[in-house]
Amino acid sequence: MTKVLIIYDSQTGNTEKMALQVLKGVKEVTNAKPVLKKVDQATLEDLETADAIIMGSPTYYGQMSGKLKTFIDSSNKIHGKLAGKAGGAFTSSGGAACGAETTLISILNAMLVHGMIVQGIREYNHYGPAAVGAPGERETKLCRLLGKRVAELAARLVS
Ligand SMILES: Cc1cc2nc3c(=O)[nH]c(=O)nc-3n(C[C@H](O)[C@H](O)[C@H](O)COP(=O)(O)O)c2cc1C
Repeated sequence: MTKVLIIYDSQTGNTEKMALQVLKGVKEVTNAKPVLKKVDQATLEDLETADAIIMGSPTYYGQMSGKLKTFIDSSNKIHGKLAGKAGGAFTSSGGAACGAETTLISILNAMLVHGMIVQGIREYNHYGPAAVGAPGERETKLCRLLGKRVAELAARLVS
């Protein structure tokens, strides 16, 4: 079983809607088990025991939210334990070209510092799904695609 952890922050529900679609994408992969956690409930043990970690955040001033950053900063305690795991990111912002990509990069950057292997998307929203407000049809598809591809990548890395 490949455990894919989806951690997200969301104050007004948009990123949460994306997280639920990512979860559906993970479920499309045989032997992949998604675990969904709001950042307040996530623990370092969750990170350590996951084969893959996908993180979602609202875009706040062009970066991930303070809550998600605080959680990631706390993962310093387990630095080295996440190396080689698969990762991915998604975000919801208030406007188009208003900081979504820099938010995604801020999450992926932290994953790279941990030595993780991050999944891009060649088709569209290359750094990860980015919705303006709630996810529309296109972002919904991209969220599912990200979940599926990260789960597949994790399965390959585990084997
Ligand atoms: C503190 C704060 C900072 C924000 N900064 C940005 C920003 O830099 N760019 C942007 O497009 N939207 C910004 N927004 C809007 C949110 O990204 C947007 O409403 C998003 O859909 C919220 O996601 P959520 O429903 O998951 O909480 C900001 C909102 C808040 C509360």
